Amino acid sequence: MKAELDFTRLPQHIAIIMDGNGRWAQKNGLERYMGHQEGAVSVRKIVEAAGEIGINYLTLYAFSTENWNRPQEEVDALMALLITTIQRETPDLMKNNVRLQAIGDLERLPQKSKDELSGCIQETSVNTGLTLILALSYSSRWEISKATREIAQAVQAGRLALADINESVVAEHLTTQQWPDPDLLIRTGGEHRISNYLLWQLAYAELYFTPVFWPDFREKDLLEAILDFQKRERRFGKTGEQVKSEK
Ligand code: FPP
Repeated sequence: MKAELDFTRLPQHIAIIMDGNGRWAQKNGLERYMGHQEGAVSVRKIVEAAGEIGINYLTLYAFSTENWNRPQEEVDALMALLITTIQRETPDLMKNNVRLQAIGDLERLPQKSKDELSGCIQETSVNTGLTLILALSYSSRWEISKATREIAQAVQAGRLALADINESVVAEHLTTQQWPDPDLLIRTGGEHRISNYLLWQLAYAELYFTPVFWPDFREKDLLEAILDFQKRERRFGKTGEQVKSEK
């Protein structure tokens, strides 16, 4: 399947909503946390595959603002998994030249998770291959509210004129300011929702939904999503004729 890819038209940035861990566990008669554990295996495989294919940015929705409302036991299990996964995977991230970054309300994470995360971000900051961005304690509405507060503050302090607020100013205040917007959003687990994820940044992304549960998602599923992306015509609001004449 890899041979079918057009390497001149790869999505530069892929965002993924990793859904279906709980249902995968239920289907296999296991506890929910075991679904998350298997989900971490998929994270490893997909990070490796994305790097090999030549994707530049991969943003994974690992924990949403709303996920704090899950039973405490599950929240604790996810936080513990984050720590063990980072500890276990950092040597391979180094070997595979992957640079780790994180977005979200990271202050809410337990101290140990924050420490592991910042240690790994620091250590991998020298890498120049795939940038892996974990969305943790993240939601778009949180992010947009925060950006709005910052912009209002700048206006209040006289550093920014009201008339100068435009799309670039908003984008510069988002947590994703340093990266291009995702070209492709993949959601596993069969639901057709965006779930408060990168609402501003996904404005022109191609959306791809698959029924495959995240713990079953492998390189071949990623390739299928990219091949589907490559069949689509991205118009960015223009007509099909305009897009063709630009080629
Ligand atoms: C959604 O499945 C998934 C999550 C809330 C957590 C995602 C976490 C991982 C894949 C594991 C660890 C990741 C890292 C980066 C260490 P769900 O529980 O909502 O599934 P369901 O809809 O079937 O219940």
